[in-house]
Amino acid sequence: MRKLAVIIPAAGSGTRLGSPLPKPFIEIAGKTILEHTISKFLVVREVCEVIVATSKDSIERVNHIFKNCSVDGVDFKVVEGGAERQYSIDNALKKVGEEIDIVAVHDAVRPFISAEIIKEAISRLDSFDGAVVGVPAKDTIKLVDDTHKIKQTPDRTKLWQAQTPQIFRKEILLQAYEHAIKHYYFGTDDSSLVERVGGSIVMVEGGRENLKITFPIDLKVAEMILSGKI
Ligand code: C5P
Repeated sequence: MRKLAVIIPAAGSGTRLGSPLPKPFIEIAGKTILEHTISKFLVVREVCEVIVATSKDSIERVNHIFKNCSVDGVDFKVVEGGAERQYSIDNALKKVGEEIDIVAVHDAVRPFISAEIIKEAISRLDSFDGAVVGVPAKDTIKLVDDTHKIKQTPDRTKLWQAQTPQIFRKEILLQAYEHAIKHYYFGTDDSSLVERVGGSIVMVEGGRENLKITFPIDLKVAEMILSGKI
């Protein structure tokens, strides 16, 4: 059986949410968002390590959350995050154990991922270097210039919105991060880094409920989902 490490970047400031507490530590239905998120991975047999990257101020918070999550056979580690999401993940990658063969990256603020979709993405690594969970684009997407003048309208039937988890063979993810850091390349997701080193990656259809809690409206929707109102 494959051995999987899950890296959870949780070092964002939460400015778009307008909350004084960083997003992963906001409580919904009696548990922090981070704890809801971690719990989704703990039922997946391949998971051997959970590595959370967070700000220096939140390291104690994460250690406290780990006490509620402990499961036999799973190592929990916390590392200090960086100024950009990519640096937070790079710091976490340095802590991945020798025995691990695949690595998943999953945003702390996506607590509604399902174990079935995680398992489906893992299974695709038999044929690909990586698997990215996402959904077909619902809206028409425009490419604009700096003045917001529309330059192009890509064919929507070929556009997908990338979510997380994004799961990769360990060696290619390490190579992709080394390459990106060396060449000062910043991507908005992990797949874009692996694409640049020639990795073959497949999209896996996830669900619309796998929302990233970013804006105040997302938090309201998350509260409704967890309280069973929708
Ligand atoms: O930046 P964004 O809102 O897209 O955040 C996605 C995830 O990355 C969040 O879980 C956030 O906590 C994390 N993040 C991080 N380090 C940063 C910025 C964001 O770990 N410097």
